[in-house]
Amino acid sequence: MVRCEAMSVEVPAGLADLLQAFTVEVLRNRPGDLVAFAADYFLGLQQRRRQAEEAETVEEIRRDGDHHEDEDEDGDGDDRGVNFTSETRTDSSSDDDSEFEPPVINRFKRRSSVCGETYNPDEEDEDSEPRVIHPKTDEQRTRLQEACKNILLFKNVDEEQLSQVLDAMFEKTVENGEHVIDQGDDGDNFYVIERGTFDIFVVVNNESCLVGSYDNQGSFGELALMYNTPRAATIVATSEGSLWGLDRETFRRIIVKNTAKKRQMYESFIETVPLLKSLDLSERIKVVDVIESRTYQDGERIIAQGDKADCLFIVECGDVRIAMRRKSVVEMEGGEVEITRCGRGQYFGELALVTNKPRAASAYAVGEVKCAVIDVKGFERLLGPCMDIMKRNIAHYEEQLVNLFGTSVDLTEPSP
Ligand code: CMP
Ligand code: CMP
Repeated sequence: MVRCEAMSVEVPAGLADLLQAFTVEVLRNRPGDLVAFAADYFLGLQQRRRQAEEAETVEEIRRDGDHHEDEDEDGDGDDRGVNFTSETRTDSSSDDDSEFEPPVINRFKRRSSVCGETYNPDEEDEDSEPRVIHPKTDEQRTRLQEACKNILLFKNVDEEQLSQVLDAMFEKTVENGEHVIDQGDDGDNFYVIERGTFDIFVVVNNESCLVGSYDNQGSFGELALMYNTPRAATIVATSEGSLWGLDRETFRRIIVKNTAKKRQMYESFIETVPLLKSLDLSERIKVVDVIESRTYQDGERIIAQGDKADCLFIVECGDVRIAMRRKSVVEMEGGEVEITRCGRGQYFGELALVTNKPRAASAYAVGEVKCAVIDVKGFERLLGPCMDIMKRNIAHYEEQLVNLFGTSVDLTEPSP
């Protein structure tokens, strides 16, 4: 603490530097809304500090693993295989010890050398990490691959990393009524559903509310591992089922690391999306984490009028043509009339999610199009603060349709 004698006020150490750095950013960016800019700036600062702390924690876990390996290599006779293993054991088998298969830690796994492959110190470092391996039969591995093929978090990892992830996953069967995760607990594993149904409960105002469910597909348990927070929901099996678990260490070493790359990639794009302006920086980062990037060829239909909706789209590049079929209109090309086009940063496909109705129109790619896609679960969990903007836009859509078709349309009314 620095004491300012004249005023006899204690100025916290670092305050002057903090304010000076902030002032420089303000002068450099000249923001229109100073308060919003300040909120984003300081949240960003906090986020970066947390990330640095998290990186340090991961590093500590690694060093800890190395340390215990050394102990074992010393030949102390304690077959902990090593402490890292026993920790994984507790995590993955706490519910049913009889199902526990001890993981094999393969410390000496090396990629076979490829002629001309350049030396990458980071990769070499990673290769020296202890690996969790749960041996599997061919039949188990086929089922595991099938369950994991649409898991978003696995889509950004390369082949070698995916193979490490699959090696580390373990099978866990569950009974009807079993609590797989309890809200408030520390995060141990991430789970991919192979089969079974599960309810999601979140405590709101001291009451446990059913907020959704999983039906024989999907994954859960990533939030506590990604953001180092307590479990955000309770997951209860509503049938007998089978899950594939991935331990926290492997998840953080591979998945979280790749997530950081994805955040970097989307950082500047996401700032330009008007819909997301009402989210603060940490909320926008969470949106990036649930984005799946999809590309479409010229003329390809992205959504079809009348279909059930399962996601929202934000245009990353290219144009999207929105077209509607209406009985009252003289049949145009394909029986559809173009209503509007969406370009970079604009969104579509939210209406059906907001109104809980089928898609009100179809969407087609004009040229090659890339979209950031947010599924319904991410939409419900993260885009609540943007709901006002989306609802307000419905009136604008209705106005568009009146101008186009000459009759009034209530997009929120149940379909005829
Ligand atoms: P995690 O917090 O690790 O554990 C509970 C999991 O429930 C959470 O990760 C998500 O994967 C999942 N989940 C599904 N829907 C919600 C929701 N609405 N809020 C919080 N978590 C949810
Ligand atoms: P959704 O109904 O989910 O799928 C079709 C999308 O077209 C719709 O969401 C809106 O995002 C978009 N759209 C753009 N203009 C209109 C409009 N005037 N009426 C209805 N949908 C529109």
